[in-house]
Amino acid sequence: MAATSTLELTPVTPHIGATVSGVDLSQPLPDGLVADLRAAWLDHQVLFFRDQDIDLEQHREFARNFGELYTHPTIPGPDGYPEALAIRTTAETRKAAGEGWHTDVSADAEPPSASILRLVEVPPCGGDTLFCSMYAAYDALSDHWKRFIDPLDARHSTAARHGGEFGLNIAEHPENVHPVVRTHPETGRKALFVNQGFTMSIEGMSKAESRATLDFLFAHCEHPAFQVRFQWQPNSMAMWDNRAVMHNAVYDYHPHTRRGYRFTVKGDRPVR
Ligand code: SIN
Repeated sequence: MAATSTLELTPVTPHIGATVSGVDLSQPLPDGLVADLRAAWLDHQVLFFRDQDIDLEQHREFARNFGELYTHPTIPGPDGYPEALAIRTTAETRKAAGEGWHTDVSADAEPPSASILRLVEVPPCGGDTLFCSMYAAYDALSDHWKRFIDPLDARHSTAARHGGEFGLNIAEHPENVHPVVRTHPETGRKALFVNQGFTMSIEGMSKAESRATLDFLFAHCEHPAFQVRFQWQPNSMAMWDNRAVMHNAVYDYHPHTRRGYRFTVKGDRPVR
């Protein structure tokens, strides 16, 4: 366990995830804490917090420490909080937001960096979120596969993920081409940057070649050694780095309710 003045970190797996303790986000943050959290987040890719009894204002102020906030183009936040994305699953929900492996809005030209989700109501059990380290997944590939995929680009499409769901106007949602392997702008590490949710195809390949390549990469990422699983409690919070992880919110708790809010920090254009 590593420690700073107020921050204690307990890694959950060797590759991804750490639990944060010694932090109370309802109080003014001690000097140096944001820098320590940022370093821990870059290192562990997803940080887990417990017992953060904060309101939407405090949640937003915390998120602002990590950059300019992203506003979802078609899913409005509650009054006064346009940047807050409601995560809400009830007995009536057909498909839960966050279900299936994805990287938040990876079809944007500049997909977000941090996503900071706090849940206020959770089901009696289930509703976990899985996170996959795309660093670990890339590192585990053979040199042959690395050489093969390093120069490739992939097309990401919001229509692929959300076509017809959530009442989204697909015409307003982007399609963009990003490197299959991106270099993280802060850590310099290479990460796979494809996901089932948004990645449609590999550029310059036949449909069959593209499907086979993506199917292999998706199956490769299923290895549990690259993953961590978070069990939520009311007032738990997770802060993940979309440039280094993908995630999957398991919808196994129907007809129970699971709800909270996510603030998302703007990112930049992925580069090789
Ligand atoms: C999301 O994709 O941001 C939602 C994740 C979750 O509900 O756990």
